[in-house]
Amino acid sequence: MGVQNKETALITGASSGIGYELSKLFAEHRYNLVLVARNIKRLSELSKELIENFGICVKIIQKDLSLTCSAEEIFYEVESSNIQIDILVNNAGTGANGLFHEIDYKKDIEMINLNIASLTILTKLFSKKMVKRKKGKILNVASTGSYQPGPYIAVYYATKAYVLSFSEAITNELKSYGISVTTLCPGATKTEFSKRAGKADLKIAMDAKTVAMAAYDGLMRNKRLVIPGWRNKLAVSISKLFPGNVSAKAVREIQQQLTEQAMKEKRLG
Ligand SMILES: NC(=O)c1ccc[n+]([C@@H]2O[C@H](COP(=O)([O-])OP(=O)(O)OC[C@H]3O[C@@H](n4cnc5c(N)ncnc54)[C@H](OP(=O)(O)O)[C@@H]3O)[C@@H](O)[C@H]2O)c1
Repeated sequence: MGVQNKETALITGASSGIGYELSKLFAEHRYNLVLVARNIKRLSELSKELIENFGICVKIIQKDLSLTCSAEEIFYEVESSNIQIDILVNNAGTGANGLFHEIDYKKDIEMINLNIASLTILTKLFSKKMVKRKKGKILNVASTGSYQPGPYIAVYYATKAYVLSFSEAITNELKSYGISVTTLCPGATKTEFSKRAGKADLKIAMDAKTVAMAAYDGLMRNKRLVIPGWRNKLAVSISKLFPGNVSAKAVREIQQQLTEQAMKEKRLG
């Protein structure tokens, strides 16, 4: 990387969806970037575009974060390149729709490694450095699904409940060291997420750019929690009023329908 002109943000899952839009926003605000994902072609294209348009420094790292060794490897690669991470964005995540007993357990474990283990390790390693400097920001991407059980997408919702609980806990701990932790809880968003999870998109899904803008704004204002869009705020408020079994029933209806719709669309080609 060349001479740093400003602070550096590390963004996981930068190759598509919310992470892609966040990368563009950080670049527009002249942050240097470390972009992580598996799809190196997409990362290279994005990096080229951001360097050309904004004159920032971009380092790309191809890693599969469903492998628990990847987080540490990223940390050491960044360290050996003498890059200081001022902002960490743990955005990479994936889901899997369907009945729990029918989903291969290897898929569940990969999801848990990506959504929970890698996020935790990256947060641990980079927050230690931030604590020493008494400065830093962390954005962790959870979901509106963090607030209730999710039949037909059970493991994913459970991973996001972890992200919310973990992030709110360290928001409290890290505040006294000058570090802000923001948790983003998007609801349905038009990205590649649904297709990868094996479900159809909700018609009312928000666009990724709007979600990324709300996240960026909340992060810069040191907000503890960002729930983008009025519908998602309302859904979270309502889910808090009901016991888990009632929320579970409503979630199942939606998730089962979206899963079946995706299967039907696949059959029709
Ligand atoms: N879209 C929604 O409806 C929704 C709702 C609530 C929360 N979220 C959360 O928002 C975050 C971003 O998702 P998105 O909606 O933008 O979905 P997306 O378009 O599928 O993007 C996911 C990103 O994560 C990366 N990724 C996936 N598996 C990975 C792995 N094993 N190792 C490294 N990177 C990996 C992908 O890149 P590669 O494939 O190149 O690795 C991609 O850049 C996720 O945490 C998701 O859970 C999404």
